[in-house]
Amino acid sequence: MAVKILVPATSANVGAGFDALGLALSLHNTVTMEEWDKLDIMASDGSLVPTGTSNLIYRSAKAVYEQLGKPIKGLRIRQENPIPMARGLGSSSACIVAGILGANALLGNPLTKRQMLTLATSIEGHPDNVAPAMLGGFVSSVFDEGQVFTARKEINEELAFAAFIPNFKLFTEKARAALPKTVDRRDAVYNLSRAALATAAFCDGDYELLRVATKDALHQQYRLPLIPGGERVFEIAWDLGAYAVYISGAGPTIMAVVHRDNCEFFEKAEEALLEQPETMAFSLRRMLADNTGAVVE
Ligand code: HSE
Repeated sequence: MAVKILVPATSANVGAGFDALGLALSLHNTVTMEEWDKLDIMASDGSLVPTGTSNLIYRSAKAVYEQLGKPIKGLRIRQENPIPMARGLGSSSACIVAGILGANALLGNPLTKRQMLTLATSIEGHPDNVAPAMLGGFVSSVFDEGQVFTARKEINEELAFAAFIPNFKLFTEKARAALPKTVDRRDAVYNLSRAALATAAFCDGDYELLRVATKDALHQQYRLPLIPGGERVFEIAWDLGAYAVYISGAGPTIMAVVHRDNCEFFEKAEEALLEQPETMAFSLRRMLADNTGAVVE
């Protein structure tokens, strides 16, 4: 029996909610998986993926088998990866979630959502991408005493997401290494008050609040120097009337939240990107929210 898993891209942090907030987007990786007598991994879209035991989908699936004490001989995995890698759009989380959901389905669905989220978080290191990837919508997550706790809210269909995706990668390890080891209490308060406000804004549908609620003092200022042209992209998106502009996950994608009917935003932003060599490295992609989360067929 083969199972097919669709997992959405995600955009983590949403400004102030470092390692806590994330939302799911209308761009999906697809994985088919079945038990096999050896390891047989291929990307059906021609993208380059590890085909050995280091493959993230395989490692995540294997973690499920191990947690359940089930032997694993091999797996046949076919993956399609339209979510660009190392761009801050949750590509690694999509692999982890696909591996875990796929293995769980192959084994007769013994794990609960929370068990799977906890396992996914232990592989990824933080819950803010894996939770919306699995659940869809806007998700607030907490990792407490070895378990993940989440609250999710459907994202209003009025919103569209403008992803400014550069043509270069930024690996999460590098983007995390740029952060200071300790934070000032004022910065902690700055962010926790805004993360709470952003969550309330999504719950109430009060998107005007996002301009203030997505400001950040913990990570964006340290990461922007790793994203040439990023500061200008922020200016472009703010000037064109975005509700929010933030570094998606660890970057380098810059995400703007806009009203779905704001077509002018996309036209003018495309033009503005072409005005400077640094911003020409960015391409603009319009996405909508994914309120469904990962699906197993
Ligand atoms: N919260 C994470 C970070 C997301 O900002 O480093 C990237 O995986």
